[in-house]
Formats: sequence, C-alpha cells, structure tokens
Amino acid sequence: MPERSSLFTSSVGTKLIMAITGCLLFLFIVIHLLGNLQLYLGQETFNAYGQSLKDLPTPITWGIRITLIVLVGLHSLSAIRLVRINRAAKPNKYKHSHYNKTSYAARTMIYSGLIIGAFVLYHLAHYTFLWTHPEYALWHDGAGRHDIYRMVIAGFRSPIISLFYLIAVGLLCIHLSHGLSSMFQSLGIQRCTRNFLKKSGRIIAWIVFLGYASIPISILLGVVTSEGIPS
Ligand code: HEM
Repeated sequence: MPERSSLFTSSVGTKLIMAITGCLLFLFIVIHLLGNLQLYLGQETFNAYGQSLKDLPTPITWGIRITLIVLVGLHSLSAIRLVRINRAAKPNKYKHSHYNKTSYAARTMIYSGLIIGAFVLYHLAHYTFLWTHPEYALWHDGAGRHDIYRMVIAGFRSPIISLFYLIAVGLLCIHLSHGLSSMFQSLGIQRCTRNFLKKSGRIIAWIVFLGYASIPISILLGVVTSEGIPS
C-alpha cells in the first residue's frame, strides 16, 4: 500500500484521480444531456426545466459550479502530470515509439481535452452568462420565465455556431470513448469484464454524441422551430 503522499503523486494515484474526476464529469455530461433533450418536449417543458435550475438555492448552484471547476482542474492537472511521468519513463520515446499501437483517441486526449475546455468557456459565455448575446436575457415566455427554448433555437440557427458545437461534441465523443476505457482500467476492473466495458464505453460515447449533436442538427433542419411562438 503506497504512502498517502506517494499515492497522490505516483502514476497509479494520478490515474485514479483522473478516473474518479472523469467519472464525475461524465455524470454531469449525461445529466446535462437529459436536461437538454427536453427541448424536444416543447417550449413549456424546456423553460420549466430551465426555471427549476434557476430556482435552486444559490449555495447549491454555486456548490455544483465550484465542484465542476475543481473536477476540471484536478482532471487537467492529472493529465499534465501523467504526460510528464510517461515522458520521464520513456526518454527515448521517438526511438521506440508505440505510436502505431495506440488509438487515435488515446494519442489526442490532451488536445481534445483542451479544445473541449475552450468550448465550455465559449458555451458559458453563449448560454449561461449571455456575454455573446446580451439580448437573450430579455427573452421571456408567457409565464415570465427566461425563454431558453427560443434562446437555444436562435443560437443554433447560425450554421457557424452549430458547426462549432458539432466539432466540440465530436471531440467530446472521441475523448469519452478512450477516457471511459482507461477509467475501467485505472479502477482495477478485471481484463475480461474490462473488454466488455471498453465496448460499452465506446457505445455510450456514441450515444452521448448523437444526443448532443441531434440538437443543433434538428434546429438547422427546421425540425425544431420557434415559429408561431409569440415573442
Ligand atoms: C447541443 C449541446 C448543448 C446545449 C443545447 C446546451 C445547453 C445549455 C444551456 C441552455 C445552458 C444554460 C442553462 C441556464 O443557465 O439556464 C447550459 C449550461 C452549461 N452547459 Fe451546456 N449545452 C450543450 C452542450 C454542453 C456540453 C457538451 C457541455 C460540457 C462538455 C456543457 C456544459 C455546460 C455547463 C458547464 C453549463 C453551465 C451550468 C451552470 O449554470 O453552472 N454543455 N448548456
């Protein structure tokens, strides 16, 4: 059993922190997707969902936000630490590269992670703090709730914005498909179960991608529209 200090600085400890923080972030991604899919249930349901989030007591809202920031921070720091540990362990990595044996997802984890991070910052400015479109703050429905239904539809009517979201959720899918299988390995799950979970991880990542991607696509195609809704 490693000492407590080495548990957090060793490769095994760092991988464990990555796995636990990644697992909790994944949980947020699934819950957020389920919330967003309510867009298909119409303006009333989607705005009521948005309002229920706004009605949460401030300590809970900020508790969740601070937890997410800490999780992203720990996840990123562990990624940087692992790259350093791996480099130190393989000084001749270019001579004896395992490049061809690792998957595309595994090789690009740090880049997909950075782009997803940049996307989340833009996403917060777009739909949470409304810095990119301050006028959205004035949109309310008949019940006086913030009209996030019209806001999301207006946002994704722009092909450029939709394309950016599609690329970001595509990278998220690639990141998740490798991240989920590494997580099962770091958590010490047995090889035979792990192979099954690896496949399941890939399928889950695809489901998450299709769920998120369906939103901008169905808005661009006019399947979900705010036409006829009084503004
Ligand atoms: C089609 C894709 C997505 C849609 C339609 C969407 C929609 C939204 C909306 C409407 C909000 C603001 C909620 C409100 O304040 O009323 C929000 C917040 C947020 N979204 Fe997304 N989202 C999408 C994808 C993602 C992805 C892929 C991630 C993470 C990787 C993400 C992370 C967040 C975070 C962290 C917040 C802030 C939560 C808070 O208020 O603290 N979203 N999203």
